[in-house]
Amino acid sequence: MSDGITLGEAQRRGVELLAAARSDAEIDVDWLLTAATGLNNARRRAHPEDWMTETAWRRFRALLQRRYRGEPVAYLLGRRGFLDFDLVVTPAVLIPRPETEHLVEAALETPAARVLELGTGSGCIAIALARAWPAASVDATDCSAEALTVATQNAAILGVEGIRFLRGDWYEPVSGPRYNLIVANPPYIGEQEPEPDQDDARFEPRIALRAEEDGLAALRTIIAGAPDHLEPTGRLWVEHGFRQGPAVRDCLAAHGFEAIETRLDLAGHERVSGGRLGYPRDE
Ligand SMILES: C[S@@+](CC[C@H](N)C(=O)[O-])C[C@H]1O[C@@H](n2cnc3c(N)ncnc32)[C@H](O)[C@@H]1O
Repeated sequence: MSDGITLGEAQRRGVELLAAARSDAEIDVDWLLTAATGLNNARRRAHPEDWMTETAWRRFRALLQRRYRGEPVAYLLGRRGFLDFDLVVTPAVLIPRPETEHLVEAALETPAARVLELGTGSGCIAIALARAWPAASVDATDCSAEALTVATQNAAILGVEGIRFLRGDWYEPVSGPRYNLIVANPPYIGEQEPEPDQDDARFEPRIALRAEEDGLAALRTIIAGAPDHLEPTGRLWVEHGFRQGPAVRDCLAAHGFEAIETRLDLAGHERVSGGRLGYPRDE
């Protein structure tokens, strides 16, 4: 057993390595050890003296090295929790964020029969809405075929029916009756903003993160296109950067939205804005 290692010793060495580079070393090591061994935290903590199998130790070391280099835990595990469900995630999709749960919560306040999500990524928003409103018809678009494959897989795994996943540029693949609700978490980081060097965003698709016009280009396209795709009094909710609230509210007002509101995230930052489309003034 000279090369063998116990669960407790593997845990200790993992935390020692990651703590040099990351703040959440213990939590990360827990996730990676569970993935490598198939044993949950309680089971491992109850028996730290148990030996790891050679395969599990090799798997753990490989995951640890990738995490040390900065790869997000969600990509290493291939999944991430969102609201009350788990999603498959690959490097083709943005890792769903807790901030986006506020967007879903805002959208769910007013029931809608026809829903459009723009830029669905992993499918997290469309799936959350379809789970809450099983009778609703939900369309979800993305320009990335790889992202739509992941979103379709997630809907199938979760047994969510009734979502049409459509590939194309924002509203381009959408036709047919207007919607009661449009929702989007588009890319909103400005092209000029510094590259994130510490966090998960380094590994996420650039097209999911970056937008021109100081990060406002996609938000403006989505808001400007909404009146042509919403029923009168239909609602639009978008997620945005924490400094973009004023610009987003101005844009919503300029395109005929009323009852405009902004919601804060858990850090107290303006994060989600939306409004209700007014009746056209010339009718
Ligand atoms: C910030 S991610 C949001 C993903 C997911 N909705 C979420 O909240 O986690 C933005 C998504 O918009 C998609 N996207 C970027 N540009 C697009 C475009 N021109 N048309 C459609 N989708 C686009 C990206 O592929 C990405 O999946």
